[in-house]
Amino acid sequence: MRKRIVAGNWKMNLTKGEGESLYNSLKGTTSSQTEVKVFVPAIFLDHLLSRSHDVLVGAQNFHPKDSGAYTGEVSISQLKDLGIREVLVGHSERREYFGESDEFLREKVDAALAHGMHVTFCCGEPLEVRESGDEEAFVTEQLHNSLFQVTEAQLNQVTIAYEPIWAIGTGKTASVEQADAMHGHIRNQVRKKYGEQAANALRILYGGSCKPDNAGDLFSCEDIDGGLIGGASLKTQDFKQIIEA
Ligand code: PGA
Repeated sequence: MRKRIVAGNWKMNLTKGEGESLYNSLKGTTSSQTEVKVFVPAIFLDHLLSRSHDVLVGAQNFHPKDSGAYTGEVSISQLKDLGIREVLVGHSERREYFGESDEFLREKVDAALAHGMHVTFCCGEPLEVRESGDEEAFVTEQLHNSLFQVTEAQLNQVTIAYEPIWAIGTGKTASVEQADAMHGHIRNQVRKKYGEQAANALRILYGGSCKPDNAGDLFSCEDIDGGLIGGASLKTQDFKQIIEA
């Protein structure tokens, strides 16, 4: 039985004080069945790590180079030095608004794994691809372009999050059937590339308007091992209900 993961993605929200009280309110939510983590704005990382409890604190973004002339960026080795062990890579907002290409994401995955980080790798198709019925091919290509260069041993440090772009922040969730089918497809791709054992061990999270009222149905699917939660992770009660689900 794979251990479940519920991860919050705070995106560019909250003040330091709000972030601290939200983080504090989650204390004790990790259990023997479920890991809980939060991806927080970079400026909160150090502070929340010093408050550290059972909920892991991760970074939403980083630059793959160790150091250099990259104004405004935070490097993967700076995160490591701070004590961060969890990073998010490939979120559709990074791909779309910040032009992160498959090639750059591949570099980020490699750099993060080389520094011993646990990577949550996001993939997912835009609405027009879903409407044309090409979503499986689209996601397969994202996996091959940016993730499947890793070794089988490195895959132990990876979680995949399937987030259909049309469901992110829109209130429109993929149906349980749509999510389940894509998760099965992703696990099959991993099986083809890395074999049965790796495919069975990999956790695949669903993201995109996951809320307390739909989390239970989504998480009951065999290939859905938890969620990557945006909006609902900003509200203690909602996030806790999702963790309970
Ligand atoms: P959402 O965001 O839950 O607000 O749809 C999910 C995400 O972007 O990770």
